Amino acid sequence: MFPEFIENLEMHGEQQEVDTTAEIKSRRTFAIISHPDAGKTTLTEKFLLYGGAINLAGSVKGKATARHAVSDWMEIEKQRGISVTSSALQFHYNGACVNILDTPGHQDFSEDTYRTLMAADCAVMVIDASKGVEAQTKKLFRVCTMRHIPIFTFINKLDREALDTFALMEDIENHLGIETCPVNLPIGSGAQFKGIYERKSRQIVMYGDTQKGTKEGTEHRIDLSDTGRAREAVGEEALALLLEELELFDGAGADFDLTAVREGRLTPVFFGSALQNFGVGIFLRAFLEMAPEPAGRISEGQIIDPLTDDFSAFVFKIQANMNKAHRDRIAFFRICSGRYDAEDEVAHTQSGRTLRLSQPQTLIANERKILKEAYAGDIIGVFDPGLFSIGDTICTPGKSIRYEGIPTFAPEHFARVRQIDTMKRKQFVKGIEQIAQEGAIQIFHEPDSGLEEIIVGVVGVLQFEVLKFRLENEYNVEIAMDALPYEYIRWVDSDTDLKTLSGTSDMKKVTDLKGRPLLLFINEWSVNMTLERNPGLILTEFKNNA
Ligand code: G4P
Repeated sequence: MFPEFIENLEMHGEQQEVDTTAEIKSRRTFAIISHPDAGKTTLTEKFLLYGGAINLAGSVKGKATARHAVSDWMEIEKQRGISVTSSALQFHYNGACVNILDTPGHQDFSEDTYRTLMAADCAVMVIDASKGVEAQTKKLFRVCTMRHIPIFTFINKLDREALDTFALMEDIENHLGIETCPVNLPIGSGAQFKGIYERKSRQIVMYGDTQKGTKEGTEHRIDLSDTGRAREAVGEEALALLLEELELFDGAGADFDLTAVREGRLTPVFFGSALQNFGVGIFLRAFLEMAPEPAGRISEGQIIDPLTDDFSAFVFKIQANMNKAHRDRIAFFRICSGRYDAEDEVAHTQSGRTLRLSQPQTLIANERKILKEAYAGDIIGVFDPGLFSIGDTICTPGKSIRYEGIPTFAPEHFARVRQIDTMKRKQFVKGIEQIAQEGAIQIFHEPDSGLEEIIVGVVGVLQFEVLKFRLENEYNVEIAMDALPYEYIRWVDSDTDLKTLSGTSDMKKVTDLKGRPLLLFINEWSVNMTLERNPGLILTEFKNNA
């Protein structure tokens, strides 16, 4: 996958600098966010297919084969038990080197899902046209807006009955608080789906069943100004409706403004059907044109230019025991600047140590590849001897770079956990603290309560099972868990004295792993009431881990 990069290793001086810049500028690194079943996997498979990262030539069971390729890669993660976490896939398309970060959905939803968004430069939001914005999309979207990253919307499944186009736009604007600008508009849906109208080219792209195609389908286009042909192609009624909609959108919709897109205030909206392979190429091409190059990240108040020669990266995910036999840990880095050369040593900012990364690898479709070099925008996974923590920085030795940490996201489920065999207290505490340090769970103590139990908070409930499984298998400790009713957690960000704080009766005061005070609540009303009762109190939902 990297032959051209390997050749570059031979080059020296100016020539290489130019190439490094070109390589970095060609990177587009994004995450796909969606509610389960909206079509994220199907869309990803089509992207990989277009990029040649998976090959379906000659296959008639296109989707089944594609799914197999991607699920093989998922299998690597599944093998470690019940936890599935996010990784990255790379492919080339139209001169761009594309890195897709996978954000697990379903019951696998965890803090890793949020963290992955910290490694992306923009996001693609997939929405089911018959459902509109759903719960999980809202949660993920909040993290995107926190970082002000551009968001591109693909409204999927137009081959099925869809909600009205205006209703869909309104839904996005109302639920997510972002302006929308349709780049194209659907003409009908379900059995009446005729195609899409592309506003920029003023052309209708006819819907065709390209499901069995092994690549991008051929596009059949008609100029809207060629009224006779347009009417014949989509029908009198559909054409009249399209013209009506166009008038309304041209009059009332937000104008396309690339600056607003780049600042995450406006989302360009595309329509299509991932399953039927329709509208995907149009989306991918336009998306890659608009998507930003690798963005500069902040180190001690200064933005580090991604195009500098100096290499730097931060850890956004740690995955333990990927290989059961070896109890290994893989740390996933997002490269933020320069070029990484596997031969070079790097400095680990947090420990002050200089080291050569062990077995650096990347994921291409279903294969793990040992890589020789990589560039800003890329994701690399390296063998971690227990040195790295989430948010850590590595860089060219002698450079002082320390990226802002990754925030701790608010857990949404809580349980009180204790070891069943009291003789195993030591292993229990050691295990639970190590797992918490990896970031799979968050643990809290009740100060002055004298209780031996630990409160565990997780973003997705599956993490409770992961915890139980890992404590039993890796630390030989059986645990009992009692679910707690808290759903809202807030870190105290003011100097408020917790002892005199006047809260609600359902509120619980706890401290996190770093001894920072925070409050747990059962409902949002209690959060607001506590804020009202304690002037000057500042509560935050995210806490920076720097
Ligand atoms: P996810 O990753 O977002 O969870 O969704 P995924 O792609 O797995 O798609 C969920 C279901 O929706 C799948 O059906 C998939 O085939 C279907 N789907 C995806 N895109 C489209 C589309 O554009 N049109 C239609 N009609 N369906 C679409 P499934 O029956 O759950 O899985 P499978 O048996 O097809 O694999």
